[in-house]
Amino acid sequence: MTLAQVLLASVAALVTVCGCGANERPTSQQQPSADDVALAPARDINPDPGVFELNLEAAAATKVYGGSPATTVWAYNGTVPGPFIDAKVGDTLIIHFRNNLPEPTTIHWHGIRLPAAMDGTLAMQKPVPPGGSFEYRYTLKDAGLYWYHPHIRSDIQVQKGLYGVIRVRGADEPSSDDEKVLVLDDVRLKPDGSLAEFLDDEAKMLGREGNTILVNGAALATLRLRPGALVRLRIVNVANGRFFNLRIPGINSMRVIGTDGGLLPAPYDVARLLISPGERYDVMFVAPSAGPLDLMSDPYERGHETGMKPSVKVASLLVEGAAVGSARALPSRFAELQRLPATDPTPIQLDLNEKFDAKGELFFTINDAVFPDVPMIMTKSGNVRVFDVRNVSEMDHPFHLHGFFFQVVSRSGVAEPAESLAQKDTIIVPMKSTLRLVSRLDEPGGWMYHCHILEHAEGGMMGEIVVQ
Ligand code: C2O
Ligand code: CU
Repeated sequence: MTLAQVLLASVAALVTVCGCGANERPTSQQQPSADDVALAPARDINPDPGVFELNLEAAAATKVYGGSPATTVWAYNGTVPGPFIDAKVGDTLIIHFRNNLPEPTTIHWHGIRLPAAMDGTLAMQKPVPPGGSFEYRYTLKDAGLYWYHPHIRSDIQVQKGLYGVIRVRGADEPSSDDEKVLVLDDVRLKPDGSLAEFLDDEAKMLGREGNTILVNGAALATLRLRPGALVRLRIVNVANGRFFNLRIPGINSMRVIGTDGGLLPAPYDVARLLISPGERYDVMFVAPSAGPLDLMSDPYERGHETGMKPSVKVASLLVEGAAVGSARALPSRFAELQRLPATDPTPIQLDLNEKFDAKGELFFTINDAVFPDVPMIMTKSGNVRVFDVRNVSEMDHPFHLHGFFFQVVSRSGVAEPAESLAQKDTIIVPMKSTLRLVSRLDEPGGWMYHCHILEHAEGGMMGEIVVQ
């Protein structure tokens, strides 16, 4: 490492662990100790505090996952996850993207409300060819945790390591002692360290689940908590197919304070946190006085006996350092959200299913069609539309809508409780159930919606809405 790299790495550790926003002072005397899974920070090359500008290159790189031999990955600026973009509401983001992969790619900014031309899908932009470049530029409207990834051959490209996180801070962030961003993933490694490309029948059916769990790109990750600290975890699941059902034995409840599109008016407590591919959750708890603890993922039945699998360890949580006499309490209330009226007289009906073709090959369908043959949905800009997403298959599908947040109206006819109001862009549609969603489609352009199990999206469970 050069001196500059050493300095950069220590700044990274502080930024990631302390999580102090630009207008927030460090809240405690002692500095938290560094995790061994600090994210690489994005370097803002623009001195204007309202502009975050960076160079981003996708290229092959080498990475060592746990005790495995070196793996050839595809990475943004050489790191998996890619650079961590830490910005604030109102910032303009400018990304000078260059593709040095051997195949075309794009970048999609998952969850971010932006102009359609910047959304990184083939509905709105040409693929960036090998050696080509593209400038993404948009303004961040909403606080929350978002992520970026390719939207071409996403099952392959994301698995290879192309993903990164964007944290957007708002004016009303709750105070915490330690804030950590956790990027959950898994990879399927062969004994020689290479990524397994072959999909067995189970992986074709359920999406690829790896044999190695990664937190911020590290296998067997260790996180450090300070005794008594009020901890805030910002979690995103970037795995192709794995659902994480998180639990920390020894911590009986975690408070969920936010999700995809920011903070919740009514935070709630859970013992376990289920998070499907694409979703984000924002949780808080008080660290115990002694450790270590394990971060576990418990079995969850998402179809085809997946609930019979054993619990797996996601990370070790060490409890170290001087105790924090945190005077802060868990937050119990945040700003109200406006509930959208679900009065659309012609709801958009989407049936999710799977089918085998004549050759016995498995496809995933929306309204019985395989993308790109799923009929386009046309709608007028500004309309508040209702979606009835009906899952007729034997497994759960995490439904993702680009460009807009939605709210849940009902689940299989049961009205969603008023206190569960949240801004979502990805949500589990459990097998054999119907979710009624409502969204204000107020940005013109072509927008994709799809299952976020990437093997399902690439296998046909994807469609396009054109907002005119
Ligand atoms: Cu994160 Cu269209 O996806
Ligand atoms: Cu699916």
